[in-house]
Amino acid sequence: MSPTDRQYRPETRLVHAGTMRSQFGETSEALFLTQGYVYDSAAQAERRFNNEEPGFQYSRFANPTVAMFEQRMAAFEGAEAARATATGMAAVTLSLVGQLKAGDHVVASKALFGSCLYVVEDYLPRFGVESTLVDGTDLDQWRAAMRPNTKTCFLESPTNPTLEIIDIAAVAEIAHAAGATLVVDNVFATPLFQSPLALGADCVVYSTTKHIDGQGRCLGGVILGSEKFIQDNIHTLLRQTGPSMSPFNAWVMLKGLETLAVRVRRQTDTAATVAVALADNPKIKRLIYPGRPDHPQAAVAQKQMRGGSTLVAFEVTGGKAGAFRFQDALRLVRISNNLGDAKSLITHPATTTHQRLKPEQRAALGITDGFLRLSCGLEHPDDICEDVFAALAAV
Ligand SMILES: Cc1ncc(COP(=O)(O)O)c(C=O)c1O
Repeated sequence: MSPTDRQYRPETRLVHAGTMRSQFGETSEALFLTQGYVYDSAAQAERRFNNEEPGFQYSRFANPTVAMFEQRMAAFEGAEAARATATGMAAVTLSLVGQLKAGDHVVASKALFGSCLYVVEDYLPRFGVESTLVDGTDLDQWRAAMRPNTKTCFLESPTNPTLEIIDIAAVAEIAHAAGATLVVDNVFATPLFQSPLALGADCVVYSTTKHIDGQGRCLGGVILGSEKFIQDNIHTLLRQTGPSMSPFNAWVMLKGLETLAVRVRRQTDTAATVAVALADNPKIKRLIYPGRPDHPQAAVAQKQMRGGSTLVAFEVTGGKAGAFRFQDALRLVRISNNLGDAKSLITHPATTTHQRLKPEQRAALGITDGFLRLSCGLEHPDDICEDVFAALAAV
């Protein structure tokens, strides 16, 4: 019985799947910090390069520690294949660029992480790929945007930072009916709470920098899909252009996966507790939490997610000054643009992650000057709540 067997439940796969033991029989996954590999003979080197013999050649192509991480991710996600990348943005960029050529068209939800928006809006057009941005929650807009040359659709759900939920199965159906694929950035949901491939997506990408590392150490990304999707679109591009994950980072991510389910459940419980505590506070103008029945897309969340979120988004009174006073008054929760960390982090998207957007773009997304995103960590929930309430008093 192999621990990668589908018969094991997801949490078990997170601990065991993909493990390849060396001749020393180590318990914990080995870190193969090597750039290259030696061959027993010239003929063996030739066979490896001809793909006539399995084995490693060079760590830009593949590395045993990175391969263990890829296999564990694939087993957990229920994907046939995975490729690890240096960062989440490398994963997003490759997943799109790998499918596209000049003359193609992309439809994407406009509620995207700032750098993803740059790739779709500014970078792809330089190579003759046009894009249309839609309100991801409006299925008619997706339908209307499809063209004969639409090659792929791209969305994140829940979105960063307003935690909108997009109906993945419905968008997949629209994309497929037009002969296009769907790529889903699943960073905010985590693989624990949402499975885009099972909902009909063709490719799922993660910034493993977030919950998968989960302790704020290493950058990383991963692209998952069918063997055919990965071979046709990702495999050669990743090897030849080089944004591969380092073995060290893959080792950190492997250890991160072992505790992912425990951490994400606990952080989600904390975020739900914070959301309940904040809901009726007079200094909170707007509160968004995917697990709540008052979430604008609660029905979609119920249908496609298995849990809430480790993040809570809210607008404080007093605009930018109020948001800044609130952040500066926090003692335990730290100001940072990152998320998914063991440490609770607060972000003011309008002046950091989404600063690049024009004011009207931010307004259309609901990123007002008083809007904040709280990523709940692993501290005691009461300590987080007490810190948040003490800081609210300063608003
Ligand atoms: C939704 C989303 N996608 C992609 C990324 C990019 O990930 P990375 O910083 O690892 O490149 C981020 C980072 O914040 C993100 O929030």
